[in-house]
Amino acid sequence: MMTKTPRSYVIGNPVKHSRSPQIHQYWLKHYGLNGSYGLAKLAPDQLAAFIESLRHADNAGANVTLPYKSDVIEFLDDIDEDARSVGAVNTIYKQGEKLLGTNTDIYGFLTHLSLSAPDWQAHTKTAMIIGAGGAARAILSAMKTSGVGNIYIANRTISRAKDLADKIYPSAQPIEMSKVQDILSSTDLIINTTSLGMIGQPPLELDLSVLPKHATVVDIVYTPLKTRLLLEAENHGLIAVDGLGMLLHQAVRGFELWFGTRPEVTPQLRQLVEKSLEVGA
Ligand code: ATR
Repeated sequence: MMTKTPRSYVIGNPVKHSRSPQIHQYWLKHYGLNGSYGLAKLAPDQLAAFIESLRHADNAGANVTLPYKSDVIEFLDDIDEDARSVGAVNTIYKQGEKLLGTNTDIYGFLTHLSLSAPDWQAHTKTAMIIGAGGAARAILSAMKTSGVGNIYIANRTISRAKDLADKIYPSAQPIEMSKVQDILSSTDLIINTTSLGMIGQPPLELDLSVLPKHATVVDIVYTPLKTRLLLEAENHGLIAVDGLGMLLHQAVRGFELWFGTRPEVTPQLRQLVEKSLEVGA
């Protein structure tokens, strides 16, 4: 009998900067599993056929990255509650004959946050999300799921913050970026989902000294690993949560769905990815 080698991919355009192959290939080797994980850079007109080909017995599924996280939905048989609430799929997997979509960013974000700041939920009455793009959608869903009552969404383009609230959590309050500083003294959790602070971008400049002492500061930017926002948070003795953990934890569910083993996010894996980020590989 021939042994099947389950295959998975990251689908997107571009895909070469994706860290997913490194993470999944590390786990395949670490657990001694039969399987592969590759890159699939697709033009828009190749998307439908590629998704259809995932039905082939050798294929286990795929990750989906920009710009296809919403486009793939129409080619799937169903999507789960998390994908529905974010309006985007980042993981495709199979159940019997069915090709299904989920979104593991909510899980990745909440798992990393709870490991880094175990008491965050008890402390968080008010959360502030900076940004209203794709990443903010998953994080707003995560806040909703966690039952955070009071949520602000600040964005340079305020209409996008309004749209986001309307689509995902209408009780979230859109605000101008210029109002963020005034609200910080009553903010328990602040999350940067914009590209501000990323290498080559201006930093997100806020005076964090006014935050409550128990506050947690999260940055989903991971290049650099410690943004100025996170360094500033540490200087004020606040819990600083970086973006790499979310990336690593979001990969756990996909790997388990495709290859049948629940992998662990270990310091060794983290170091491996950190190293590749340093050299810009
Ligand atoms: P992603 O999917 O990574 O969230 P995105 O959808 O392009 O990416 O969203 C990027 C976010 O960063 C948006 O909130 C964007 O603000 P706008 O909606 O006003 O464009 C924010 N952003 C990017 N560059 C910014 C800058 N220089 N100043 C303020 N906000 C910025």
